[in-house]
Amino acid sequence: MQSLRQGYTAVVFGASGGIGAALTAQLASDAGCARVFAGARSAGSVDASDKVTPFAFDLADEQSIEAACRMIGEAGAVDVAIVATGFLHGGGVSPEKTWRSLDGAAMQQVFLVNAIGPSIVAKHVLGLLNADSKSVLAALSARVGSISDNRLGGWHSYRASKAALNQIIRTISIELARRNPMAACVGLHPGTVDTGLSSPFQGNVPASQLMAPDESAAHLLRVLDEITPEDSGACLAWDGTVVPT
Ligand SMILES: NC(=O)c1ccc[n+]([C@@H]2O[C@H](COP(=O)([O-])OP(=O)(O)OC[C@H]3O[C@@H](n4cnc5c(N)ncnc54)[C@H](OP(=O)(O)O)[C@@H]3O)[C@@H](O)[C@H]2O)c1
Repeated sequence: MQSLRQGYTAVVFGASGGIGAALTAQLASDAGCARVFAGARSAGSVDASDKVTPFAFDLADEQSIEAACRMIGEAGAVDVAIVATGFLHGGGVSPEKTWRSLDGAAMQQVFLVNAIGPSIVAKHVLGLLNADSKSVLAALSARVGSISDNRLGGWHSYRASKAALNQIIRTISIELARRNPMAACVGLHPGTVDTGLSSPFQGNVPASQLMAPDESAAHLLRVLDEITPEDSGACLAWDGTVVPT
């Protein structure tokens, strides 16, 4: 990423995921990147290398996030931090087709992973962002979190959790502009990407619109390379366009 200082430090939360793993690999292979801290619920699910330092964290456990950020901060400032975690289905939870399926426990789980957890990561990582040159905190959001763009209905919890995430990002960006004018905080829509998260729902997606994780990650890193603090607070799609809120 040319817009970051030479020898930059990256952090990926969710490096075991389809998109998170691709982001981690591409950051580690970037000549300008000195070090990637790669977090997963099980640190063993991420391969360590001379550039990649795995760490464990769980979005449901603030202490684990705080401890990880303390360890990362001891190594110096962070230039790019990406929250690549997310939850749509699993363990008996699936996206709602009707309001009759709304379930409080399932909603809590979806909101925990998609909105609350990334907010707590932001709480602990924002203070580590480089203040002497460009730095970025990005969280993977989704176009379906757009309220004005919602014409299909369904997926109530996932949509609402991503809308909440987008509002948190917008709110953080206002404070961040005062505290660290060199930094930006954005949401990212990765496109429709062939991962475990999307696999049960790919039936109606034309092959031409389904991206490989590597392809999406390359687009997302290009978007992050091009953003400036003026973009802070927005949700940007993989092609650099703004996703309406
Ligand atoms: N794929 C798409 O088409 C698509 C479209 C729009 C938006 N997105 C967004 O892109 C992001 C990445 O999605 P993906 O497709 O790469 O999904 P994925 O392959 O299912 O990866 C999800 C990641 O989230 C992590 N995670 C879940 N719960 C966690 C928790 N409690 N604590 C820590 N980590 C947790 C998973 O860790 P474990 O390995 O430990 O489970 C995994 O690393 C998500 O925010 C998703 O909403 C994806």
